[in-house]
Amino acid sequence: MGKSLLVLTFVVALGSSLARAQQTGACSNCDQGDSRVKAIAEEFAADIHAQNAMSCNVCHAGGGRGTEANRISAIPRERIPELCGSCHADADRIKKFNPALHTDQLAQYRTSVHGIKFANGDTKAAVCTDCHGVHRMRPASDPGSSVHPLNVAATCQRCHSDAEYMKPYHVATDQYAGYSDSVHHEAMVAGGDLSAPTCTTCHGSHGAVPPGVKSVASVCGTCHVLQARYFEESPHKHIFAMMNIASCVTCHSSHRIKHPDDTFVGTGPKAVCGNCHTPDEPAGETANGIHRRFQRLEADMAGAKSLLDRAEHSGMDVSEAQLELDQAGDALTKARVTLHTATLSRVTEDVNVGAGIVAKAHQAGEAALRERGRRRKSVLIPLIAIVALLVSLGAYLREIERGQLTTTGAKR
Ligand code: HEC
Ligand code: HEC
Ligand code: HEC
Ligand code: HEC
Ligand code: HEC
Ligand code: HEC
Ligand code: HEC
Ligand code: HEC
Repeated sequence: MGKSLLVLTFVVALGSSLARAQQTGACSNCDQGDSRVKAIAEEFAADIHAQNAMSCNVCHAGGGRGTEANRISAIPRERIPELCGSCHADADRIKKFNPALHTDQLAQYRTSVHGIKFANGDTKAAVCTDCHGVHRMRPASDPGSSVHPLNVAATCQRCHSDAEYMKPYHVATDQYAGYSDSVHHEAMVAGGDLSAPTCTTCHGSHGAVPPGVKSVASVCGTCHVLQARYFEESPHKHIFAMMNIASCVTCHSSHRIKHPDDTFVGTGPKAVCGNCHTPDEPAGETANGIHRRFQRLEADMAGAKSLLDRAEHSGMDVSEAQLELDQAGDALTKARVTLHTATLSRVTEDVNVGAGIVAKAHQAGEAALRERGRRRKSVLIPLIAIVALLVSLGAYLREIERGQLTTTGAKR
């Protein structure tokens, strides 16, 4: 142990000088170094600490005082949170570099599942460097950072998808697989919406946002505000609390959250309400009632749309009615949110707004087609008259011609 510490001491001291040399652009000693240290020194050049003129020994300096102040040492895993915290929990020190940087990570970390387990001697729980990396730490805003929103899930899954690593804990290891297949992952990765949730949005980065029953609803509700408010107003609120089951995730799942459509409401094969309600009980009837209303409005909207399309193709201007019809879609969207009240009358209210708009659009479409027919007629009548006139004119001319023929023939 003593010997390996000494070797590392040398190696790190060398690395320190390499890193400093690299910062100044000169690297005369590179080929003398151990290749691992050389690699670390190279990596470290891009590290946020190196870029703030910190060298290897801000972390690798031994805890000694006085004559030992410059001793450089290995860093046992147990010491990592305190080491990072020695600066990051020190507001005076940090604010000099970056006034915007929070200094509560260590304090928060100690309240997290990771921090608590770690403090209790379980070194498999995540420490600072498991999430931030070691020698190439970057601010989270940097796409190359292991904690950039696009990279967080991959960082967490290194442990949480590793069934072997997580075996002692009897905890599921499918969160990453589920999340990768979710509407949230899609919004983030395919949609480029960095505000869509990743692991740490729901679980917290440092602090404990335990995935408990109460906090879960409020996590989803921070973004899906209306659904959360309506759920609060639903009969499910108290019943779910009494049954000690979570709110949103009981119906939507916690990780593999998919885009729900209207087959999700009711007691049909794909419907979630059917998990707890049968079609013949009042709640089941409500569920199916909501489903039928959505379906009818959807069908009526499609009917009105094709009517307006026909009118448009026949040359009528129905753009205003088409725009208005879009608002029926908005009403249906609203109804799908109001669904979270699980109250038929309130959903019906929204559906009726949509139905009223559809009825108007339908009328507008029919009126346009009638008008088209009338115009056709009004064009046709003069046309027939003209044709008739031409025909009789032709006949008249032929008559005259024939008359002239007979007179000249008589002359001959
Ligand atoms: C911000 C703190 C910090 C700085 C600065 C830092 N290190 Fe480290 N280093 C660590 C930590 C923490 C570990 C332990 C990693 C672990 O156990 O997972 C470590 C481990 C090491 C190791 C042994 C493990 C390995 O990866 O091979 C070497 C060698 C090393 N560092 C060299 C350097 C050199 C050289 C520099 C400067 C170029 C440097 N370190 C700068 C924090 C730092
Ligand atoms: C010697 C003091 C010191 C030590 C030790 C230290 N840091 Fe830092 N660290 C800083 C300072 C100062 C900054 C601010 C640089 C900036 O933001 O411009 C910083 C920046 C960071 C950042 C980027 C913050 C951001 O978003 O801008 C991360 C992440 C970070 N440190 C993590 C760690 C971890 C993890 C450890 C332990 C392995 C550690 N630091 C050890 C001083 C230190
Ligand atoms: C479970 C993973 C994880 C652990 C463990 C972790 N962090 Fe972080 N850290 C993150 C993520 C993700 C971010 C970026 C999002 C955020 O700021 O919350 C972050 C951000 C930071 C920042 C920048 C904060 C800012 O205001 O921009 C610092 C500094 C930091 N961490 C230091 C630490 C220190 C020190 C420790 C150990 C005591 C630690 N982290 C442990 C995941 C982690
Ligand atoms: C170094 C490996 C490691 C990394 C990286 C890691 N974790 Fe963990 N995590 C653990 C271990 C070990 C536990 C304890 C398991 C347990 O008790 O259920 C744990 C526990 C948890 C728990 C509590 C689970 C429960 O049982 O209630 C959550 C939530 C969690 N981690 C989320 C995350 C997130 C989010 C990230 C990424 C930002 C992350 N972890 C990164 C190892 C890791
Ligand atoms: C949209 C929010 C959300 C996101 C994103 C999310 N989780 Fe979760 N996670 C939850 C909820 C809610 C629970 C609680 C489930 C319960 O209580 O039944 C949970 C539970 C967990 C647990 C405890 C074990 C379990 O499966 O119940 C772990 C570990 C975990 N999540 C890790 C992760 C990791 C790793 C990621 C990223 C790959 C992630 N989570 C992404 C909301 C989320
Ligand atoms: C950080 C914000 C945020 C959090 C937290 C969040 N979501 Fe989302 N959610 C989004 C975004 C962004 C989308 C994708 C855009 C959209 O379709 O609304 C989305 C989409 C959805 C969708 C699909 C919507 C659709 O129209 O297809 C469902 C269902 C959903 N989230 C449920 C949940 C549940 C359940 C939770 C909690 C476990 C949760 N969300 C937590 C932001 C969030
Ligand atoms: C009792 C089951 C149930 C619960 C609890 C529930 N939902 Fe839903 N949710 C549904 C159904 C069913 C739909 C599908 C509506 C449709 O498309 O017809 C849906 C749709 C959604 C949508 C997308 C469609 C939209 O426009 O609203 C989001 C987002 C959503 N729910 C979020 C949440 C959140 C957040 C919570 C917790 C506050 C929650 N849900 C609780 C059943 C539920
Ligand atoms: C996790 C189980 C569960 C799911 C899923 C669920 N419910 Fe319920 N719901 C209950 C329980 C339990 C009650 C209270 C007992 C009862 O009335 O059946 C209840 C009550 C109701 C009530 C009040 C009934 C009354 O007589 O006052 C309505 C309405 C209702 N649910 C509609 C729905 C709809 C719509 C869905 C799907 C979007 C749904 N439920 C999904 C468990 C669930």
